[in-house]
Amino acid sequence: MNILLLGSGGREHALAAKIKQSAKADKLFIAPGNAGTSREGVNVNIAATDFASLRAFALANDIAMIVVGPEDPLVKGIYDFFANDPALQHIAVIGPSRLGAQMEGSKDFAKAFMMRHNIPTARYKSVTAETMGEGLAFLDTLRAPYVLKADGLAAGKGVLIIDNPEEAKRELGVMLAGKFGDAGKTVVIEEFLDGIECSVFALTDGNSYKILPVAKDYKRIGEGDTGLNTGGMGAVSPVRFAGKSFMEKVESRIVRPTVEGLKAEGIGYKGFLFFGLINVGGEPFVIEYNCRMGDPETEVVMLRIREDLVGLLEGVATGRLNELALTEDPRAAATVMLVSGGYPEAYEKGKRIEGLTSGIPPGTVIFHAGAEASGDEVITSGGRVLAVSSYGSDIKDALEQSYRVIDGLHFDKMYYRRDIGFDLQ
Ligand code: AMP
Ligand code: GLY
Repeated sequence: MNILLLGSGGREHALAAKIKQSAKADKLFIAPGNAGTSREGVNVNIAATDFASLRAFALANDIAMIVVGPEDPLVKGIYDFFANDPALQHIAVIGPSRLGAQMEGSKDFAKAFMMRHNIPTARYKSVTAETMGEGLAFLDTLRAPYVLKADGLAAGKGVLIIDNPEEAKRELGVMLAGKFGDAGKTVVIEEFLDGIECSVFALTDGNSYKILPVAKDYKRIGEGDTGLNTGGMGAVSPVRFAGKSFMEKVESRIVRPTVEGLKAEGIGYKGFLFFGLINVGGEPFVIEYNCRMGDPETEVVMLRIREDLVGLLEGVATGRLNELALTEDPRAAATVMLVSGGYPEAYEKGKRIEGLTSGIPPGTVIFHAGAEASGDEVITSGGRVLAVSSYGSDIKDALEQSYRVIDGLHFDKMYYRRDIGFDLQ
């Protein structure tokens, strides 16, 4: 079948590489893609949210399946757009309905869902400008630090963690007055949970689900998890503390009730579900849901799925996921993100990347994130540039291999964290 993959980051390159391995995939197109995805299929210059152009392209190219990488098209309703158009109904869109995507698109929606289904998460209160007084009173019931979240999508910047109660109250007012625009018209105030985070992914056809290899990402720019938040500086899989007994709790208390809750409420969901979890003294809590795969987690998770991904996605589309197996590669995987100097603040683009063509060893694959072709060269085009991903006997071994490969790569002002996985070894 012909497949159209949406997105342009390292996640999409990793998905494209895995899709390309499938005997079921005929032509693979990526819209808009990047320098890496152009090696796995054909890049198409259409934005992932330009539904009208995607419609025309899908019909003209006999597309049977659309795999959605980022959240934007999902929150904007690409699933419903295809499902509601008689000319497009034969095309399987892998991703939730617009309502299902609210699990990520609205933190208030996600929290209320978890309350209805008794899914463990931090205590919270949602407030608007009209109910700000209740928010101030709720803050008085909490201990520092205080967690304030803009309800809607805010490009990863909508979460504030504040130590001082007066400052938290002041900041609540600033958020409700429009600091994050419409995304912050409702603010979710949460109890702070103290623990270590991990990322659990499930693939669901709306009835059954498969849990993917568990990963941990490293979001801060600085070593030792310091400094500003980024899109993700590296990831590892498996995660030592997320062993059998923890994952049994995750499945019975979180994954199963989520899939069953979506079904019971008639919320269409055929795609990836991302559980951002925190382990508090051995007990899992949900920090957030996302309606897509994580980036850079995908760059390690795809390496550790043994099965044909297209076969699994077909199972999602046809509602026969329960008939399929999903097994983990016993090897560990790690990815280290090379970023542009200055990221996540201002940085320069257009830097020539050297070392990409010289002898990348087996067991390593370099996924392109913010990189584009320029003649015969590859140049930087984003903050996160390359995800250097390796297998190893354990995560330490996988990381050592990635760092060895990184020694042979270079671009002006290249930066990366040398301590990915530091808390797990
Ligand atoms: P989110 O966008 O909801 O994932 O939040 C961003 C980050 O803030 C998370 O990855 C956590 O590190 C942190 N965070 C969010 N909510 C809480 C919470 N209730 N307790 C502790 N940390 C949190
Ligand atoms: N790595 C976290 C995310 O993709 O949101």
